Amino acid sequence: MDHFLYRDGELYAEDVPVRDIADGVGTPFYCYSTATLTRHFQLFEEALHGMPHLICYAMKAASNQAILTLMAQLGAGMDVVSGGEYARAIAAGVPGERIVFSGVGKTRTEMRQALQGGVRQFNLESEPEMEALNEVALSLGVVAPVTVRVNPDVDAQTHAKIATGKSENKFGIPITRAREVYARVAALPGLRAVGIDVHIGSQLTSLEPYRQAFEKVADLTDALRADGHEILRLDLGGGLGIPYLRDNQAPPLPLQYGALIKEILGDKGCEIEIEPGRLVAGNAGILVSRVIYLKEGEGRDFLILDGAMNDLIRPAMYDAHHDIVPVMEPVAGVAQRPFDIVGPVCESGDTFARGRMMPPMGAGDLVAFRSAGAYGAVMASEYNTRPLIPEVLVQKDQFAVIRARPSFEEIIERDTIPPWL
Ligand code: LLP
Repeated sequence: MDHFLYRDGELYAEDVPVRDIADGVGTPFYCYSTATLTRHFQLFEEALHGMPHLICYAMKAASNQAILTLMAQLGAGMDVVSGGEYARAIAAGVPGERIVFSGVGKTRTEMRQALQGGVRQFNLESEPEMEALNEVALSLGVVAPVTVRVNPDVDAQTHAKIATGKSENKFGIPITRAREVYARVAALPGLRAVGIDVHIGSQLTSLEPYRQAFEKVADLTDALRADGHEILRLDLGGGLGIPYLRDNQAPPLPLQYGALIKEILGDKGCEIEIEPGRLVAGNAGILVSRVIYLKEGEGRDFLILDGAMNDLIRPAMYDAHHDIVPVMEPVAGVAQRPFDIVGPVCESGDTFARGRMMPPMGAGDLVAFRSAGAYGAVMASEYNTRPLIPEVLVQKDQFAVIRARPSFEEIIERDTIPPWL
């Protein structure tokens, strides 16, 4: 469910006509709904109700400070994967003890930053990283709380570029080696194991891979406890998929995901941590763009938009499907025809959709890409010196620009000319 619905013949974001935002802000832009973000976060709260838990929002999905501030106000913890994300979490008012630090290549600088600023745990991904964190912690005279991210060798049945739980992926430590690795952690004075971490991939549309991974984590919890380790927390990662409205995909609901967690891990006496990103933000955001030209080609008609692959890379990068809808509601029963929907960037890859059935459209019309709230703005670039597009947050009948479009001057001034030129 989201809060982008047609009303009186046009698309609204909550109680604001999308057209009004386009008039005020210019296109293209991202637009998020406060009510949807809140609702999606609360779905996980409801799903894990009754067991000790912390929902650590994976800010890599959408990391605007306004969104993080909203999440912090809702009581979220954060999952961060870089020094920059850590700094964002702190700036949004998230206390260090609610921040988990994930990522396969944490630098010593990032480790120091988090140890000094406060951190709930580091999710360790390799033995060299474990040794490095031990040294950094000792040099600061502190003990770092850690989990080891285990790789359960489970097929998440998702796009290859976002599957992380198979042994061929770069992530985590093979679960078969976990006991050895926890023994090493116990021997290092700068580290204290507090739990186990697992994350098998993103955009999962079935619970089955989760079931396999969680069962392995349950067994490992018992084995590690028998070895004398204290396992207080289980970080189960993120990854629950969202409907992108193709093939009527219906991924499991947070409530079903929560029930699975309770069924398999509920009796372990552990605090459960989860790291959802996409499900919180994905359908809470749209990308709004304007048709620049309708170009009638040979056998194909192109809708050329002012938004491009640099603004939303997912179709080019993962062949991802995003629903694209006209902002002005089409008249019921109007004939649709196929369009190739493309951006102005000088690459054929700058294609959002081919042969997409749309009602009659032409220059000046507005379209909205649905499900663009996660991995949209955060993955944008300024390729072709197209300024990063604004982000707007709506709440009921108000909207605010939460990141302004930079001017060309600002972009140019970021570069410096060396003295010899
Ligand atoms: N935790 C860890 C350790 C992760 O690596 C990720 C995502 C998450 C949590 C959040 O997963 P989510 O709940 O959002 O599925 N750019 C890609 C998605 C990359 C996901 C990377 N890791 C896309 O646009 O589909």
